[in-house]
Amino acid sequence: MNVEDFQPNKQLLLHAVALLTGAEASIPSEPLPSELPEVGIGSIDALQAMFDDVLGKSRDLGAPGFFAHMDPPTPAITWAMHLWTASRNQNLLHPDTAPRARELEKLAVDWIAPWFGMSGGHMTPGSTVANLTAIWAARESGCRIVVSGSGAHLSIRKAAHILGMEHRIVDDWSNTGDLTNAVAVITAGTTSTGEIEALDAASDARWRHVDAAWSGPLRLSDRYRHLLDGIEKADSVAISAHKWLFQPKESAFVLFADHESAHKTISVEGAYLAVPNIGVLGSHGAIAAPLVAMLLAFGREGIADLIDKSMALADELAALVMAEKDLELRSSPNCGVLCWRHRNVTVDDIKRHLPDDVMVSSTSINGEQWLRSVAANPNANPAKVVAGVMQAAEQASRK
Ligand SMILES: Cc1ncc(COP(=O)(O)O)c(C=O)c1O
Repeated sequence: MNVEDFQPNKQLLLHAVALLTGAEASIPSEPLPSELPEVGIGSIDALQAMFDDVLGKSRDLGAPGFFAHMDPPTPAITWAMHLWTASRNQNLLHPDTAPRARELEKLAVDWIAPWFGMSGGHMTPGSTVANLTAIWAARESGCRIVVSGSGAHLSIRKAAHILGMEHRIVDDWSNTGDLTNAVAVITAGTTSTGEIEALDAASDARWRHVDAAWSGPLRLSDRYRHLLDGIEKADSVAISAHKWLFQPKESAFVLFADHESAHKTISVEGAYLAVPNIGVLGSHGAIAAPLVAMLLAFGREGIADLIDKSMALADELAALVMAEKDLELRSSPNCGVLCWRHRNVTVDDIKRHLPDDVMVSSTSINGEQWLRSVAANPNANPAKVVAGVMQAAEQASRK
């Protein structure tokens, strides 16, 4: 390597874009070696060698048959921003190394926080870390136990474990016992079924955290905003931008009703730092840039349209499932999450026989297996998804 390898290499970057857009065909490459080399092959050959693993054989999450997990396709403007941010490698830990990137993150936080009645917060690599951060702040405010519903995401159990707190699961938010030393974690959009728990629950808890990792962006939709009414009374909120804000991973927010006080309790000073280090992360990249760029390009309205469209696709899938006598719908979609199954063929058999261009996920509810579709893909074609499942059922039955 030499100095030029740190400069913008136009030939390399144009080649990368040409492969990405299909303007240049990829030359079939050998599978990657199991051990990485002592002597390199050069940047252009390395790009070619990486094609299959990064692009060619990756899942196209925006394909019409994909209606499965909480992982969306991402708009091209965000790809461009990832290229730029990688080239500059700013570190928000130090104002010196991120003179503008810190302001970009503040712009994004200041834009999103008021939708949730929050005063501010910061970005994290996902809601797992956002939940951990919020529960850490709750612990610093005197909470000793974590209380959640049974549908809470596993990150809540992890956070309690890491923070040395007891985790209690309640079946009924109206019957929780004393919560004066508890952080109540209310899930807005449970991972398996998309249920929005009562956002006014646990009003006597010392701290109320709403995990809106999936559903949070509904707050941007004129049509569906009301589903999250009450969230503004929380002490903290987690939202994954790499789910329904169509951001490349890893991108999320932890927001606080009083972010200045909360940040103070989860900040650590360091001799080498000009400003206190807030939250769980140390080094922290310019992950707000793709979101700010997407907002500039499409506005709040553009994102809300995508969410509305995704919700409509979940309804369309539900109607198709109900119209098919061999399919069973568990319940109408909750914030874009739908559980369904074939009446005669097991979920495992369906998944085993699905055509390559159709993907649904699965979940276990009270010990029963269900197919699960999450409306993260606004380009999905529900008819194709149902046809794929019916085809898989037919194939499985023939065996
Ligand atoms: C309700 C809920 N909370 C938290 C998480 C974790 O979020 P992330 O994957 O962004 O860490 C998920 C992930 O699916 C989730 O569904």
